[in-house]
Amino acid sequence: MPGLIGPKDYSQEPSRHPSLKINAKEPFNAEPPRAALISSYVTPVDYFYKRNHGPIPIVDNVERYSLAVGGLVKKPIELSMAEIRKLPKYNVTATLQCAGNRRTAMSKSRTVRGVGWDAAAIGNAIWGGAKLSDVLELVGISKHSSVTLSGGKHVEFISIDRCKEENGGPYKASIPLQQATNPDADVLLAYEMNGKILNRDHGYPLRVVVPGVIGARSVKWLDSIKIIEEECQGFFMQKDYKTFPPSVNWDNINWSTRRPQMDFPVQCAICSLEDEDVVKQGKIKVAGYAVSGGGRGIERVDISVDGGKTWMEAQRFQKGDGPYSSDDLNSDKWAWVFFEAVVDIPEKAEIIAKAVDSAANVQPENVETIWNLRGILNTSWHRVQVRRDSRIANSSL
Ligand code: MTE
Repeated sequence: MPGLIGPKDYSQEPSRHPSLKINAKEPFNAEPPRAALISSYVTPVDYFYKRNHGPIPIVDNVERYSLAVGGLVKKPIELSMAEIRKLPKYNVTATLQCAGNRRTAMSKSRTVRGVGWDAAAIGNAIWGGAKLSDVLELVGISKHSSVTLSGGKHVEFISIDRCKEENGGPYKASIPLQQATNPDADVLLAYEMNGKILNRDHGYPLRVVVPGVIGARSVKWLDSIKIIEEECQGFFMQKDYKTFPPSVNWDNINWSTRRPQMDFPVQCAICSLEDEDVVKQGKIKVAGYAVSGGGRGIERVDISVDGGKTWMEAQRFQKGDGPYSSDDLNSDKWAWVFFEAVVDIPEKAEIIAKAVDSAANVQPENVETIWNLRGILNTSWHRVQVRRDSRIANSSL
């Protein structure tokens, strides 16, 4: 694609914030310290996790960049950035979460394959761009369509990066046409992140943002969009990002038996404390994020300081000062909710957080029951071990 290039090596990577914890250098995969996540409802771009499968593409001339929209449509088109910017612009606050968030903790129960992540492969941004449903109208697909006249049922997003899993080909993924043409699903072709032009790491010049769905479907460095009959047959849809039961291993796996993962389940994590932490005697603050997929809100976050014998409810908040309510029309339905509780801890404590979403889905108690060989969707109760030591300064309250 003129204007956008997928480099063959890592010699032209962008610079990144030094506080990021690098989980893999090439391709670059990094997350912020978990405490940084709760310092701001909208995650600063520098601290937003970066999840890549190849070298970061380069825009040599944005004027020459164009997005091809074709496949099973009446009138394929090419859109320049200027034309995309002329479409109605929407700002959607949405949390992006990698399916591999909290994989390291899952791998402690049994080995899994994949980049290790702590609890910060997640971030919340204000994405600015055009709605995919508006772009699809330009190729003759009306809003709320689930199939085109020529039999198209899925929308495939194709990038320009070179991924080894695709034998040097580009990253790609698809979503159902029904979701793509539903304006309320807020699927964006985003050119801005937090009010600024997207940076290279996050998909410059154009990326997809599919709110409420695992990050893997939000394709960065978008090169083309194709309307197709069956879902995308790419590696990351068919041979990755699927959940299997704990009995499936690398010898007996049959990838075709499972659907590609789309919505992410209810999740929460304590960010004010590390996995093993030492605090000063007294009360401490337990704070973190909670989020659910599919636009479901967070109904409750429960905290225990005695390993799950007794529970108290944490306060929830989002933007602004007031308490959060999941059915308030002013709440950001695609975004995380912060929680906070002040607790008294005994000398040694296992502190647990678990969230309940608006459909009453609750996080599973044990990681073993949801273990899967790729280590995705570790949404088990988040546990941290805390010890009191009166000799140290208390930074948790
Ligand atoms: N798009 C392309 N082209 N290449 C990628 O490697 N990674 C996906 C998705 N889109 C990826 C991609 C995954 S797995 C995630 S979790 C998100 O991008 C991460 O987006 P971020 O790096 O902006 O946080």
